[in-house]
Amino acid sequence: MKILVLNGPNLNMLGIREPDIYGKSTYADLCRLIREHCDSKGICVTFKQSNHEGDLVDYIQQAYFEKVDGIVINPGAYTHTSVALLDALKAVCIPTVEVHISDVDSRENFRQISYVSKIAVKTIKGHGFDGYIEAIDHLYSDRVYN
Ligand code: DQA
Repeated sequence: MKILVLNGPNLNMLGIREPDIYGKSTYADLCRLIREHCDSKGICVTFKQSNHEGDLVDYIQQAYFEKVDGIVINPGAYTHTSVALLDALKAVCIPTVEVHISDVDSRENFRQISYVSKIAVKTIKGHGFDGYIEAIDHLYSDRVYN
């Protein structure tokens, strides 16, 4: 099974950005945690991060041609603005789980809208880095049991 973990803008700044909200661990720590989990399940995982909307669209399209089975996406601030990401996910028809480290529901009003939620098979909010692990497990069990 092949999974793409895609992170959007400012997630490369984990550990530096607003640690009271996002924690003190870094993006490298996040990737290590996910890789260890995927290794234990025999899942082949790839990581991509970009601060640019078009790059994220390109990575989603690439996932189609590389026959990726599932996408875990934290679109960062593009969650709340990007029809382009929604359209890209609709185009590739790859099961996608949306993850937010923070509990966006209890934050500012402008974080209450998610375009990606309209296509995501599941959205996980406010579980910190563990949300990514839950997302992977969701895609994995969907694949194994269906
Ligand atoms: C985020 C929440 C977004 O509102 C914010 O713009 C981010 C990170 C999260 O992981 O909690 O960059 O997606």
